[in-house]
Amino acid sequence: MELSSFSMLSFAILFISLSLSFLTYRHKSHASTKNLPPGTTGLPFIGESIEFLRTGQRGHPEKFIYDRMAKFSSQVFKTSLLGEPFAVVCGTAGNKFLFSNENKLVTAWWPSSVDKIFPSSLQTSAKEESKKMRKLLPGFLKPEALQRYIGIMDMIAQRHFASGWDNKDEVTVFPLAKRYTFWLACRLFVSIEDPEHVAKLADPFNVLAAGIISVPIDLPGTPFNRAIKASNLIRKELQVIIKQRKIDLAENKASPTQDILSHMLLTSDEDGQYMNEMDIADKILGLLVGGHDTASAAITFVVKYLAELPEIYDEVFKEQMEIAKSKAPGEMLNWEDIQKMRYSWNVACEVMRLAPPLQGGFREALNDFIYAGFSIPKGWKLYWSTSSTHRNPECFPKPEKFDPSRFEGNGPAPYTFVPFGGGPRMCPGKEYARLEILVFMHNVVKRFKWEKLLPDEKIIVDPMPMPAKGLPIHLHAHNG
Ligand code: HEM
Repeated sequence: MELSSFSMLSFAILFISLSLSFLTYRHKSHASTKNLPPGTTGLPFIGESIEFLRTGQRGHPEKFIYDRMAKFSSQVFKTSLLGEPFAVVCGTAGNKFLFSNENKLVTAWWPSSVDKIFPSSLQTSAKEESKKMRKLLPGFLKPEALQRYIGIMDMIAQRHFASGWDNKDEVTVFPLAKRYTFWLACRLFVSIEDPEHVAKLADPFNVLAAGIISVPIDLPGTPFNRAIKASNLIRKELQVIIKQRKIDLAENKASPTQDILSHMLLTSDEDGQYMNEMDIADKILGLLVGGHDTASAAITFVVKYLAELPEIYDEVFKEQMEIAKSKAPGEMLNWEDIQKMRYSWNVACEVMRLAPPLQGGFREALNDFIYAGFSIPKGWKLYWSTSSTHRNPECFPKPEKFDPSRFEGNGPAPYTFVPFGGGPRMCPGKEYARLEILVFMHNVVKRFKWEKLLPDEKIIVDPMPMPAKGLPIHLHAHNG
């Protein structure tokens, strides 16, 4: 998401709050108000959306959670966000409860604007779509399947560094991280690797990404309207690619394993049905969106922490150079190399503990139920938050300390480290993200050491954490 969209997001939340609060008022008035979780629902209609946003804008989204955990309950509190009544479940027990009750007591929930930008050709809701997606994705995104793409990731990373970093004294990390993750996704999802073609898709894609969290007013010129148009444009472009791929597969000019597109075209559901072209375009678009800003934020914060912590940088450098030295000239990274990047992955995990790309996830109560002794009415929304465990001294002693050794051995206790969520809805792109982050780390430390150009650059969480100016850094090339 573009940094300038923060104010748009505030407006969006206000707008949705006002309209949805009004629309849902009747429903809510029927719900039992007995023994609801403690908490406040803030201003009429607006709820606590402004406070929720403000703590993120100040770089401390966890404050919203911890203030209320201290004031009301460390297990669950009520609030009102996006015009909806919410129960925020906290701590290890809260995570465990939500993650293990998927489709039993709770189900996925998305703001309605998401459905509008990602209309499905089957006219099912995003909820149904994501269920379908879940069945399909593991085949392509499981570690065994991804192994064969590590060399390609390394090749794209090398091209990315050659075009965006090499021979430069200064770079701004976040836009470059976005360029890298998008290039990778274009290659691995649809086999597009020509930089010009990638750039052609990147422009409307950025318009789309900004529009997902904009004011949901569909009038000419609004970011929301532009996002819908951009989404249609990308899906049309994807359809052209899909049509051509069908022909290429039939003529044996394309391989069934070359990317996720081939996989989707050749995989049927349990009824033997294949997805149609529009469905596939939607799915690929969903993956592009799910994996883009998240992984780019993680990479940006890896670079930030490595700039701030030279002793951690040195250890990562040592690990990566041992791998680099073991390679023949021109030989690409492979699965064995990735397995050797233990320390680097512990560092990336510690980065995602302190700066999780997503702050949490939404659910909806399928029925009335009791949690921690409190009633949660059917239809209420629920929220789990990474910070309620990531920054909790009971889960991570001295939580402010950057300490990758927390991930050694068995690592953190179950349900405490949750940057990718957990249970059946856990991020399907987790392993893909691990590989793209590690391949990036290998390539960046092999080439450079760096320092921040703005030592006190502010962090904004909107809704992903981001250095306010995109993290400009000064580069020192090892061979320079
Ligand atoms: C560091 C990078 C990433 C982080 C931290 C991350 C985190 C998450 C989280 C927290 C969720 C929501 C889980 C929930 O609702 O409980 C999620 C969902 C999702 N992620 Fe990721 N993700 C990352 C990268 C990716 C990548 C690279 C892809 C695609 C290749 C991807 C695809 C998805 C999809 C499609 C969903 C929705 C799944 C569903 O609704 O069932 N993510 N991710």
